[in-house]
Amino acid sequence: MASENIYILGIESSCDDTAASIINNGTVLSNVVANQKIHEEYGGVVPELASRAHQQNIVPVVHEALKKAGISKDQLHAVAFTRGPGLMGSLLVGTSFAKSLAFGLGIPLIEVNHMQAHILAHFINEDGFNKPSFPFLAMTISGGHTQIVKVSSYFDMEVIGETIDDAVGEAYDKSGKILGLGYPAGPEIDKRAQLGNPKAFSFTKPKVDGLNFSFSGLKTAIMYFIQRETKNNPNFITENLNDICASIQYTIIGILMDKLKLAVKETGIKHIAIGGGVSANSGIRKALKIGEQKFGWTTYVPKFEFTTDNAAMIAIVGYLKYLEGTFSESDVTASARLKI
Ligand code: KG4
Ligand code: ZN
Repeated sequence: MASENIYILGIESSCDDTAASIINNGTVLSNVVANQKIHEEYGGVVPELASRAHQQNIVPVVHEALKKAGISKDQLHAVAFTRGPGLMGSLLVGTSFAKSLAFGLGIPLIEVNHMQAHILAHFINEDGFNKPSFPFLAMTISGGHTQIVKVSSYFDMEVIGETIDDAVGEAYDKSGKILGLGYPAGPEIDKRAQLGNPKAFSFTKPKVDGLNFSFSGLKTAIMYFIQRETKNNPNFITENLNDICASIQYTIIGILMDKLKLAVKETGIKHIAIGGGVSANSGIRKALKIGEQKFGWTTYVPKFEFTTDNAAMIAIVGYLKYLEGTFSESDVTASARLKI
């Protein structure tokens, strides 16, 4: 098997990115993503628009992935696709496309859990990036997810903590909306946070038992705070924007790190891998470095293009399942609430 040259096509369409990637024996040959700009106008993803855009994008995106990889579709060994979780209308587009392509080519179809894929993206071959050793803790933080997962092997995973309301990226984006920033606001809040005073304003952290997270209270607290302050000073936001961003970031990173430390304490596992769009955040990266120095953690941060929603992470899971011979039946259906 090892000497064989395996080509896997991965297709991702769970939210607002239509993506396709070709992986050859664990190495990415192409990783194409069509972002849907349309949602920026609405300050969040509009499911109906997302599914329509996927229908328009999927054929050109898959074509481009094959072209960039320099292979033809007849060279593919399997088609891997995101089965869930995600938006039903969006998942259906990728699922039906993957099914018909695999069926037409007479090759295996491989379903992939999007949340597992965020974690297994760490196993893509990439110079300068180490693969985590088992067991490890994976913290997936993005606009759609906030989870801590205990990973014992490729497909033995247990969710030990997750958000009970908003995802951490949503906390960034909704705070940004209150401050009048564009969508998604995470990157700008992060940039400004580095220029401001994190202790300028204080927001209470939510009290949630165990390893679960909650972010909706923080959003409300920020909203009331801004309403109160702008009543006294209409220019409050513009005059204090960097400090407000720094204080929000300080609170959010504090919430994430408190739970991560608790997870390390409860499991005794000190290998920590992060994933999802928020893993680009400078605050979380700094906090992980401190964890390495202070607590002897080993941390893994993936290459950015493999950590936001992408299809290379779907293709790598497809490759790992292909090696195990785990294939899907032709009647497999999309599942919006698929669990790890
Ligand atoms: O993984 P992703 O591209 O898509 C999903 O949500 O699945 O993550 C996007 C999220 C957005 O909420 C965005 O604001 C946030 O990641 N984000 C950041 C940063 N870069 C992206 N949040 C904080 N700091 C950043 N540097
Ligand atoms: Zn995702």
